[in-house]
Amino acid sequence: MCGIVGYIGKQQAYPIIIKGLHRLEYRGYDSAGVALLNGHLNIYKKKGKVSELEHFIAQKDNTGSVGIGHTRWATHGEPNDVNAHPHASYNQKIALIHNGIIENYAAIKTELLKKGYQFQSETDTEVLVHFIEEIRQNEQCSLEKALRLALTKIVGAYAIIVISEEEPRQLLAARKGSPLVIGIGTEAGEYFIASDATPIIEHTKNVVYLNDNEIAILGESGLHIKNLQNVETTPYIQTLDMALESIEKGGYDYFMLKEIYEQPNSIADAMRGRLIAKDNYVRLGGIHHYLPHLTNAKRIVIVACGTSWHAGLVAEYLIEELARIPVEVEYASEFRYRNPIIEKGDVVIAISQSGETADTLAAIELAKSRGAIIYGICNVVGSSIARATDEGAYIHAGPEIGVASTKAFTAQVTVLTMLALMLAQHRQTLTKEQFSFLLHELENIPQKVNKSLRLNDSVLEIAKIFKDARNFLYLGRGYNFPVALEGALKLKEISYIHAEGYPAAEMKHGPIALIDEEMPVVVIATRDSSYDKIISNIKEVKARRGKVIAVVTEGDVLIPEMVDYVIEIPQTHEALIPLLAVVPLQLLAYHVAILRGCDVDQPRNLAKSVTVE
Ligand code: M6R
Repeated sequence: MCGIVGYIGKQQAYPIIIKGLHRLEYRGYDSAGVALLNGHLNIYKKKGKVSELEHFIAQKDNTGSVGIGHTRWATHGEPNDVNAHPHASYNQKIALIHNGIIENYAAIKTELLKKGYQFQSETDTEVLVHFIEEIRQNEQCSLEKALRLALTKIVGAYAIIVISEEEPRQLLAARKGSPLVIGIGTEAGEYFIASDATPIIEHTKNVVYLNDNEIAILGESGLHIKNLQNVETTPYIQTLDMALESIEKGGYDYFMLKEIYEQPNSIADAMRGRLIAKDNYVRLGGIHHYLPHLTNAKRIVIVACGTSWHAGLVAEYLIEELARIPVEVEYASEFRYRNPIIEKGDVVIAISQSGETADTLAAIELAKSRGAIIYGICNVVGSSIARATDEGAYIHAGPEIGVASTKAFTAQVTVLTMLALMLAQHRQTLTKEQFSFLLHELENIPQKVNKSLRLNDSVLEIAKIFKDARNFLYLGRGYNFPVALEGALKLKEISYIHAEGYPAAEMKHGPIALIDEEMPVVVIATRDSSYDKIISNIKEVKARRGKVIAVVTEGDVLIPEMVDYVIEIPQTHEALIPLLAVVPLQLLAYHVAILRGCDVDQPRNLAKSVTVE
């Protein structure tokens, strides 16, 4: 995905745009660019991060009160200056930025090539800007009409912003499948627009979320929103519920570390008003109309990607054990292409931090088309997935900016635990004592996460020992198997060390061949129903001279005797261990990556959410 931002008003656009790009940089950092209008168009683009663009522009004319900016995660064409956005029409009259993919760009490009158009870049976006200008010339029409006509012929996903030298007091935007938020400034005719609210929050709290197939016209004549048939609708103005501090580092070196440390609060926020243990109360307000469907579901299918998929795997264990409903967890990217068996009335739960992941969104649409009821678990309020689902619950983790997901995982698992408990209560699958005990334990998790965070120094020491390892193995059983997967994903995505998560008992069916004295093996070996079994697995590793780092329950005396390094986490009910065990694994990945000199907030090749297939 990419980040896009625009400004029109009386202030200088450049400082607003560049700050906005820094805020959106988590969405992609292969290249960045801006276009500014001040009588004529000035376009500046640079490969690399936003700071490199800033450096490049420092001595250039950056004046103008209308501007757009882009930070890119490359899809069509390698990261370089030429492929960077904005892209301009051949006559340099129009500049356009784009987040998404124009799927039929090749056919349009062929037509334009026949007409003599020349292309500078390899991008689908440049095709779109030439196409709009071609229509504008042919029809002798306004930019707005040309944009509308062009979009009726476009297949794919887009959030775009367009400016024109010939119609300088307006900014046009459109979306289909990629998000756009419009901020309404304090002065008449002042508007901010961006991929998410983070560049807008310090300027205004009044926002309008653009819907799919809508075009926004912003400028001196106000804010007008029209559909592709040119029918105007009344903008629905909402108040942003986001604090500026939540999108700043607040004294931490990296967003990831800040977000790891926020977990006691973000988990508490996920439960706020939804769980009161002393009253035996657990309720997700978002499930209302469809509660009977969920409670009586013959099976539940969970779709998600990456870390959200790992949270879904924890939910499978939770819902099956506590509420006795069969659960299947699917990679959204596989589900959408494999003709899955989904019938009318089936329940599908979609989990997504960003609420914008293209594969998850497509899986939802597929399940919907087959009559399923879709329940969403999202973090970003108003996101595409939140809007595409029938009902759902927000996780209330606050903005997650580090590309490696941390606090969203624990907040997702918290909400999914509440969901499992709610279903268990309605289905009477737990005794009163079991139910009450779990509610109390869950309510106490934030304090216990706080305690787990005190492990930071000892985890740092372990990270120093293993920072140069070439491979890591992560093992867990039962509820701790998804934690092993998540620990391995965290390490590989930010430190670039190859890591595998495995069910501990599966190790002997293959991965055991990898073990020698060079191989660090992180084993989540807490006191739970698999305790004795995981001890056997540890012994199997030690017999082959693997180095074992064990995450154990505090007070354990057996396992520390047989392993190389020990990380002690607080005691809790087995079903809640993932919420505690994942914390030292997040810290381990963080410290290893920092010691290796990696940029943990912006790891190579990644973007915060993947809005392309
Ligand atoms: O926004 P989503 O939860 O839908 O994102 C899913 C994955 O792309 C995401 O979890 C990704 O795996 C993260 N980089 C993991 O840290």
